[in-house]
Amino acid sequence: MRTARIGALASGTGTILEALLDADLPIVVVVVDRRCRAEKVAQRSGVPVVVLERRDFGESFDRDAFTSEVVAALAASSVDVVAMAGFGTVLGAAVHEAFPSRVLNTHPALLPAFKGWHAVEEALAAGVKVTGCTVHLATLEVDDGPILAQEPVPVLEGDDACSLHERIKQVERRLYPATVRSFVDGLRAPSAQPEAAVFGAPDPRTGDPRTTDPRTKNLDTRNGEQK
Ligand code: GRF
Repeated sequence: MRTARIGALASGTGTILEALLDADLPIVVVVVDRRCRAEKVAQRSGVPVVVLERRDFGESFDRDAFTSEVVAALAASSVDVVAMAGFGTVLGAAVHEAFPSRVLNTHPALLPAFKGWHAVEEALAAGVKVTGCTVHLATLEVDDGPILAQEPVPVLEGDDACSLHERIKQVERRLYPATVRSFVDGLRAPSAQPEAAVFGAPDPRTGDPRTTDPRTKNLDTRNGEQK
């Protein structure tokens, strides 16, 4: 199988995106949802950038229309794996249907603790002594989905949200590229040939495992024995 092609999504200062690009991961397109430094970061590295400004999608924000355009931009570059790198828009179901179990995210807390946009502030407010970061497979639920990697970061005396977030991001800039690399390498392993990846992924609508894989159709999943 060829190396998986990665599409990155970003919105902010783009330092995590920069780390992914510096790691020479096969990033073929970057999609941003607003004008931001991440756009410049991608341009500097010569990766095509698609700007889809979320504010162009109506006052009440048409999430499904926005998601369709993101999916179309990723598909136009034949992307296999999506890496969110500080992306400020929650995407609709279409992205998970197009890339089942292939959307990765990094979050600045030890999930399942402190989900959402204010993870660092909430960790400080809760008085935890240790927080950290999590790389996970994204699902429709925000900051949910199977965890791929985590690393703790201590909260230091005198930390504010800015200093703590920066120390967490120092770890993310190492952990995220390494985890994305292992993920795409895993897709190339013999046990993860394209048909296995597709058949093995749960149906995005029902969450049920797909059973049409010729290698599993004789398995009676009720007792785990092969017929
Ligand atoms: C990171 O902490 C990431 O986990 C979160 O947004 C931040 C992005 O940082 N989702 P940057 O804009 O790449 O510096």
